[in-house]
Amino acid sequence: MPENTNSKDGSNSVGGKSVVSRPSPSKKDSRPTRRNSRKPRTSSKIVGNNQESIPITKKSGISGATTVSVSTLKEMKGKQPIVGLTAYDSIMGHFVSQAGVDFILVGDSVGTTMLGHKTTIPVTISDMIHHTAAVRRSEPNCLLVADLPFGEASLSFDRLLESARALMQKGGADAVKIEGGKDIADDVEKLVATGIPVLGHIGLLPQTVKAIGGYRKFGSHKEEAESLYTDAISLEEAGVFAIIGEMIEKDLASELSRQVLPPLIGIGSGERCDGQILVTPDLLGWSNGPVPSFVKQYANLNHEVSVALNRYVKDVKGRKTAR
Ligand code: KIV
Repeated sequence: MPENTNSKDGSNSVGGKSVVSRPSPSKKDSRPTRRNSRKPRTSSKIVGNNQESIPITKKSGISGATTVSVSTLKEMKGKQPIVGLTAYDSIMGHFVSQAGVDFILVGDSVGTTMLGHKTTIPVTISDMIHHTAAVRRSEPNCLLVADLPFGEASLSFDRLLESARALMQKGGADAVKIEGGKDIADDVEKLVATGIPVLGHIGLLPQTVKAIGGYRKFGSHKEEAESLYTDAISLEEAGVFAIIGEMIEKDLASELSRQVLPPLIGIGSGERCDGQILVTPDLLGWSNGPVPSFVKQYANLNHEVSVALNRYVKDVKGRKTAR
């Protein structure tokens, strides 16, 4: 673990890098909240991500199947790592659920991994409902979260609410994910107030990849680290049940995991987050595009599938397949 040192301005130096920290109670007023009028927390206990692994019992649903709720995920913080994976159809949903993940994300990465788009931007709400419903039909034993695609959070709150409801009512999602921090926190709070559980997403936001000019790490500079901290706190205050932190500098991601109450689920943000998620085709080597360098490959399906299909074509050409 890198050594932490406190500086006068309340920032921490982790491993020589400056990152933000939650101010001590005496400095409460300077904490970058969205609303300083908010009541202080009744419990100031901040749980870290380096505690001993304690088993969390998954609840049994009506059918006897094991279920995971957003509360289960929140309770896991500081006790055991949360594991998530993406899925886009029934067969993938089945295998991902069987592997024992705590939640499945039907990400808008469906656009790049399955639908042949170059970015996630062309993905529509109809695409997301279609793929979420397919994963729901696999009856996964875990929480099912669906992504709100590009543009949905930036039009009007009514449109956002309608799309989030559609993902739950037509797609069967248990919760929705929205990219963005401070700027969308008010809308997130309103969604949560209507009973829609929201998963936040900060750091690299794939839907803004055109605007930011490509994929890169976030939070290496103090200003950006502070802005990420404000994003995370804003989402915490808005009531998200967890936050995905994508491509965040690893010491900062670790610090955010310790300081923010909802679990921080990392992707390309180092191993000291409260949990991890990956895009399933990336870890399976089942991809027709570049795979991010932080992804550990557990299989090479591209190779396996290619070998099998080539053998089939050869067999038919050689009249060897008929039974
Ligand atoms: O769409 C997606 O798959 C995601 C993951 C990168 C977290 O947002």
